[in-house]
Amino acid sequence: MIKSSKILGRSGAAFDLARSIVKAAPTTASVLIIGESGTGKEIVARAIHNRSERKNAPFVAINCGAITPSLAESELFGHEKGSFTGASATTMGCFERAHPGTLFLDEVTEMPLAMQVLLLRVLESSRYNRVGGTEQINVDLRIIAATNRDPKEAVMAGTFRSDLLYRLAVFPIRVPSLRERKSDIAYLAQRFLDELNQQEKSSKRFSKSSLDNLEGHSWPGNIRELKNIITRAFILADNELDIPPFSPTRRPGSLEVKQGFLKIPIGTPLTNAQRAIIMATLEHFAGDKQRAALALGISPKTLYNRLERFGDSPDT
Ligand SMILES: Nc1ncnc2c1ncn2[C@@H]1O[C@H](COP(=O)(O)OP(=O)(O)OP(=O)(O)O)[C@@H](O)[C@H]1O
Ligand SMILES: [Mg+2]
Repeated sequence: MIKSSKILGRSGAAFDLARSIVKAAPTTASVLIIGESGTGKEIVARAIHNRSERKNAPFVAINCGAITPSLAESELFGHEKGSFTGASATTMGCFERAHPGTLFLDEVTEMPLAMQVLLLRVLESSRYNRVGGTEQINVDLRIIAATNRDPKEAVMAGTFRSDLLYRLAVFPIRVPSLRERKSDIAYLAQRFLDELNQQEKSSKRFSKSSLDNLEGHSWPGNIRELKNIITRAFILADNELDIPPFSPTRRPGSLEVKQGFLKIPIGTPLTNAQRAIIMATLEHFAGDKQRAALALGISPKTLYNRLERFGDSPDT
């Protein structure tokens, strides 16, 4: 398994990113990380934490889209034993668990609106009560948030509060897609291969056409997709990794959708059909995972799990 999770890269875009991290890290400013899926947003968040004065305090990550609105308050604030049915023990919320470190709000634009209100209130006062509690809890936290959507669009769509966006985006950082840092593809691929060779005590290498094929791909799954493809090719290779040319990438928007209908050929494997339906629904709701999950009749958490799995498959 490729473990390395450094901010690797030699392109200008990678250098700019590294510089933003170094600048933002020692400050107290809230950081909003914006970038496509698999570009390394969580890696950036951890890098900021690790370079900050809070590096020895906890780094707590929560996925805002996977939180059920009715449990939001308890997730954030924790609850006292017996405060509601099923509250069998006093539990700390994520604010308390992250204190005095960093709270990473992943997929922040997917946060249920009621939770956005709660969050704003705590950001303003730094104190709150546990659900069912009277004791006032004070927290000192650095907030880092991330999203793969354009947050301004989410504001315009009415799913994200503009006052929260201003609070979170004191220091915005955009993480470039792999397409925008093409010169890093071969470099990253080689570094990942070196790591695998070292682990397995092997000396496998890329065929010449492999590197060309990697560079020609559009990488909708970004670095995550690159890692997975290298790992798979490494396992299959005896000596030389052979990565065949990629078929033209089907972006979600390139599905055959007409007037709200999706055309799926008979004989399509069920997993591919399922993926097509999920991607088209997500596209239809402009990337709003809460609404897409509702329409699909699955929980946001299940939708996240599916998307994560799609991100791992070779022909995303
Ligand atoms: N610069 C990098 N060097 C090495 N590995 C990286 C780098 N950036 C990202 N990765 C790897 O790519 C994968 C995806 O990274 P990460 O989870 O941070 O992406 P993300 O932007 O948070 O994606 P998502 O939006 O899907 O949550 C991880 O396996 C991570 O280790
Ligand atoms: Mg992430």
